[in-house]
Amino acid sequence: METKLIKIQDSEWIKDEELAEAARIIREGGLVAFPTETVYGLGANALNEDAARKIYAAKGRPSDNPLIAHISCMEELEPLVKEIPEAGRKLAEAYWPGPLTMVFPKSEIVPYGTTGGLDTVAVRMPSDPIAGRLIALSGVPIAAPSANTSGRPSPTTAQHVWQDMNGKIEMILDGGPVGIGVESTIVDVSGPVPVLLRPGAVTMEMLEAVAGQVEIDPAIQGPPREDLRPKAPGMKYRHYAPHGDLILVEGDLEAVVERINSLSREREEEGCRVGVICTEETRERYHYGEIRSVGQRAKEETIAHNLFAVLREFDDLGVDYIYSESFSRDHLGQAIMNRLTKAAGYHVIHV
Ligand code: TXA
Ligand code: MG
Repeated sequence: METKLIKIQDSEWIKDEELAEAARIIREGGLVAFPTETVYGLGANALNEDAARKIYAAKGRPSDNPLIAHISCMEELEPLVKEIPEAGRKLAEAYWPGPLTMVFPKSEIVPYGTTGGLDTVAVRMPSDPIAGRLIALSGVPIAAPSANTSGRPSPTTAQHVWQDMNGKIEMILDGGPVGIGVESTIVDVSGPVPVLLRPGAVTMEMLEAVAGQVEIDPAIQGPPREDLRPKAPGMKYRHYAPHGDLILVEGDLEAVVERINSLSREREEEGCRVGVICTEETRERYHYGEIRSVGQRAKEETIAHNLFAVLREFDDLGVDYIYSESFSRDHLGQAIMNRLTKAAGYHVIHV
């Protein structure tokens, strides 16, 4: 299949003509990758089971891993869900459109092919103007996982999507690099107390400020355990795994820098290729391997923004070992550390 790459000239002034063909492809059951404010999504008609099946095939994704249905306005939520619990309504008012996904009891019209066999459906209203306009023009909710091959870091540019999806889908809409860089926060609002299933840019503090008490799915707090299944089926997979062995070094920053320098020197002496993930504040202090700053410690949103691109770059460079500094787990740091520790297969050295 030939994949069309369409550059959107100005996402503030989108012309409907630019999105008309993409909307037609979605309506007719095809696949279009598009930007959202979190990561690029791989979209298909969420109400069409055959279209959903194509998503799983293009990504090489296990079919028990449900998809998020993306909507463009509140009226589009009602037909998809059995009810809108109070917490869901409040959170939607506060954070939609935006990087928040909520899990509701699903209605009859949402096929099990989209929900991976579950009786709930995950719904998000993205704030990216290209995403919003595409959904509205398609006239159907758009099921969209991140537009990466299963197991690779989520794409934050159209070039990342091209690397993974060229030849497998009808179209890629290029809206430039995304803003946030990590996937949306997922909250299950189908039970009595909202439960955080995946941390993201809408932080625990932000959720609690609006919904009161919020619980955290215990299964996302540490390494996978037989007896503890994550409520978001996708969280059980070792996502975002770079080809090289990723090792996190955690502790006092001075000691972290020292340990990463000594580990990377040792590996280089053994003839291995090494990558180092550091920050603007520490970059000058590393001396071995390919050194990449992921952003500024003082501005954690820069770290979220660059993280997946740096992991992909190390894949392209073919490094054998990646040593990474670790970050605060507060606020957006919870999402950053969740993605990093998972990518590292929970391999953390404490210094
Ligand atoms: O930011 C995002 O959410 C991006 C953009 C494209 O919107 N999408 C995304 O989709 O990250 P994906 O498929 O890569 O991750 C969706 C996660 C998976 O872990 C999946 O298991 C979970 O959401 N999920 C989907 N439906 C669910 C449901 N009904 N109950 C529990 N978890 C669900
Ligand atoms: Mg994903």
